[in-house]
Amino acid sequence: MNTDPLNLTSGFAVIGHRGAAGLAPENTLPSFQIALGMGCRGIELDVHRVVDANGLFRLGVIHDERLDRTTNRRGLVANFTAEALSAVDAGNGAGVPLLDEVVRLIEQPAETLVNIELKGKNTAAPTAAFLDQHPELQALVSSFDHDELRHFRRLDSGTAVAPLFSRKRRNLLDTAHELSAASVNVAYPMVDKPLLETCKEAGYPVLTYTVNHPEDAQRMKSLGVAGIFTDRPDLMMQLQA
Ligand code: G3P
Ligand code: MG
Repeated sequence: MNTDPLNLTSGFAVIGHRGAAGLAPENTLPSFQIALGMGCRGIELDVHRVVDANGLFRLGVIHDERLDRTTNRRGLVANFTAEALSAVDAGNGAGVPLLDEVVRLIEQPAETLVNIELKGKNTAAPTAAFLDQHPELQALVSSFDHDELRHFRRLDSGTAVAPLFSRKRRNLLDTAHELSAASVNVAYPMVDKPLLETCKEAGYPVLTYTVNHPEDAQRMKSLGVAGIFTDRPDLMMQLQA
């Protein structure tokens, strides 16, 4: 039984997607600073496992498995050290940050949800280790890679998790039950009354991505969605509750 550990059912959460990706280069420190400064209920970020100069596993905050789309460099993220990632230009001179650097921006951890999306392979273990060191964080760990998320759940039974779905699946609730999920996170076009009723009956708040038009966000709120991921928190803050 989901007991809504993040208290999502009682309000409408505006979660800055990749920070505030419509206002600053995605997944960079300035992008997260903007979303946090606006008072978003939370921020969402994507992680890949990287190695630092000491040979330790760290978490690089970047969406793609390659640097090509979002930075001035090319190649696989896995082929860059944590230090080398900090030195690339991910937009306006900002580097690819490490998860440590992003969470350091959070001034009110008890009130700020940080959604860590496991994007890369083998991110479950370093994320569990990271969160073990940061019990102050209000974390939600999500992934489209349900095997990676199951691995995380085996390592960490306490942190809130959410399976991500990009399309309707018959086994959506089975996956949520198996993970003891705190929410079910779905693509915006999937959201309709039957989906919301099914999830509500089973006790799962629904978060949806990526909603960038206020009229769509209003419709999501009216339908009973618990929160949205948005690139444009500036257009959505008046809906937050
Ligand atoms: O977690 C919501 C959303 O970020 C999932 O899609 O591709 O933007 O990581 P994507
Ligand atoms: Mg994401």
